[in-house]
Amino acid sequence: MSSSDEALRQRIRQAIASQPQPTVTVLSSLLAVQDAVGWLPPEAIEEVARHTGATVNDVWAVASFYTNFRFTPPGIHTIEVCWGPTCHLLGAQAILRAVQEALGLPGEGDTPDKRFSLKLNTCLGACAQAPALLLDHHLYGRVTPEQARRLLQGLNHTAPHQEAP
Ligand code: FES
Repeated sequence: MSSSDEALRQRIRQAIASQPQPTVTVLSSLLAVQDAVGWLPPEAIEEVARHTGATVNDVWAVASFYTNFRFTPPGIHTIEVCWGPTCHLLGAQAILRAVQEALGLPGEGDTPDKRFSLKLNTCLGACAQAPALLLDHHLYGRVTPEQARRLLQGLNHTAPHQEAP
């Protein structure tokens, strides 16, 4: 096993072991790993199975049921556009269109250069600030299509060495 494989496994184990709630489940462990690592590599499935006493098949069954889990690494930047009811009423469609045009994506997914991953979210828990989007885990509220475009343009002009790994 290479040192980067071992480092990944350590991050996964740490994420599983650091869950603050008293009841740890397969689902909570998968969520903890995805939060920490950004996706669920095969090692995550094995480690969650080992930690919870479930079978690897059972863990896969849970992971594959929820569309929010991803099984490939995300792009360098992740943008989540909320299209929940409140955001929808306050202009989410125009925000989403602006983001899709800026990224050249027809819907959710990753740009071919792996710089951006676009996701839709049914509520970011910030309805009072609708329409909202999340960019690299930072919430932007009352956003306009123009602001969304500018946010993405700013990142496009960031040299790769200035970006987080
Ligand atoms: S519906 Fe968009 S933040 Fe709640």
